[in-house]
Amino acid sequence: STSTVSVGIHDISTATGHYALPLETLAAQHGIDPQKFLVGIGQEAMSLPAEDEDPVTLAASAAAPILARHGAENIRTVLFATETGVDQSTAAGVYVHSLLGLPRTARTVELKQACYSGTAALQFAASLVARDPSQQVLVIASDIARYALDSGGEPTQGAGAVAMLVAADPAVLELDPFSGVYTRDIPDFWRPNYLSTALVDGKLSIRAYIDALTGAWRDYREHGGRAFEDLATICYHQPFTKMAVKAHVALAEVAGQPVEKDVAAAQLADTLHYNRLIGNSYTASMYYGLASLLDHREDLAGQAVGLASYGSGSVSEFFSGTVRDGYRSHGRAAETRAGIEAREVIDYARYRELHEREVPVDGGEHELPRVTRAPFRLAGYSGHRRLYERNA
Ligand code: HMG
Repeated sequence: STSTVSVGIHDISTATGHYALPLETLAAQHGIDPQKFLVGIGQEAMSLPAEDEDPVTLAASAAAPILARHGAENIRTVLFATETGVDQSTAAGVYVHSLLGLPRTARTVELKQACYSGTAALQFAASLVARDPSQQVLVIASDIARYALDSGGEPTQGAGAVAMLVAADPAVLELDPFSGVYTRDIPDFWRPNYLSTALVDGKLSIRAYIDALTGAWRDYREHGGRAFEDLATICYHQPFTKMAVKAHVALAEVAGQPVEKDVAAAQLADTLHYNRLIGNSYTASMYYGLASLLDHREDLAGQAVGLASYGSGSVSEFFSGTVRDGYRSHGRAAETRAGIEAREVIDYARYRELHEREVPVDGGEHELPRVTRAPFRLAGYSGHRRLYERNA
């Protein structure tokens, strides 16, 4: 089926956590060669939230510039993708809707399937816009990736949000109407309701990612997907940037266009800049990869790019789109770069102290220290409610 209106990403904007921990600091603490992180997993630093930041404040901070540029009057739907939501009942997007002053005449919902749900949100948004091209959908992917201290996953933590405005006749990326999907029940990574850190079988998760992605790729091709060689590049889900390179080598092989590791790394280089510095941002990670690509390549107008989404557990989707003429003038490279550079670099002791902080469970009054300089903050807790505010 082909849609008659062009639908896709009209604007894309990012936000990351207030703090940064260089992975050299973590390597020194654990007495291991920093090259294992810098080269072996391809990560330089990870973002961490301030005491008064959470996935809601990151999301609102990522979305605010989109509303400043385009207004909110055509937004009828807010889709909030996260696996680190703050409430079992209310959608995190409802708090964002309130913080941003969005029109009451909008629906808001939260979507979950590990790192994949940002892609579900984007695809659902595209369907809504195809049905009524006068409507716009605000899609936000926001997460704080936390693993236990001293665990294998620890160097792959991170924090970030990506907001996208999905609209007809999009300025940035027109989505293809076909895609490939894959679901398989597999225990590679999960987080029971009673834990604040994720559990993971690292080696299994890497195999599961590649299996699911190649499954989605095959389905994409069977549903009218483009040939591998027709894609200018591919943005992969990036739990750590080396994972994208591994996935690209595997996919190229399945597609009958094998590449060596270094060639794969060079082909993906433009998609890896931001994730290398902020770490895993779960649902937002692949979209940080897309932002990185758009901000670092000037020659993509009219070219097709692939998007390879994976969420543990597991669901994968491979889809694609065509970069629009003039996309460079809609970019936000300076803002994204500034957000990354503005982070406060912390030492190991401070990192450990932040990691060990716990959310109060007594339902009492708790004020949080004023730390973040982002436009929105979590002010505290009262009566088991989270109190958000615009940052003065
Ligand atoms: P590990 O056991 O710490 O590391 O686990 P390793 O021993 O496998 O080494 C990693 C790489 O560093 C290897 O390279 C080593 O050779 C290399 P590879 O063979 O893979 O190419 N290395 C060095 N390189 C240079 N100099 C050195 C050196 N030493 C070693 N001195 C692991 C790594 C990623 C498994 C761990 O960090 C982990 O468990 N992370 C969390 C899970 C994860 O990110 N999985 C990714 C796939 S699942 C996914 O993407 C979904 C997810 O985002 C969640 C969701 O969907 O919600 C996680």
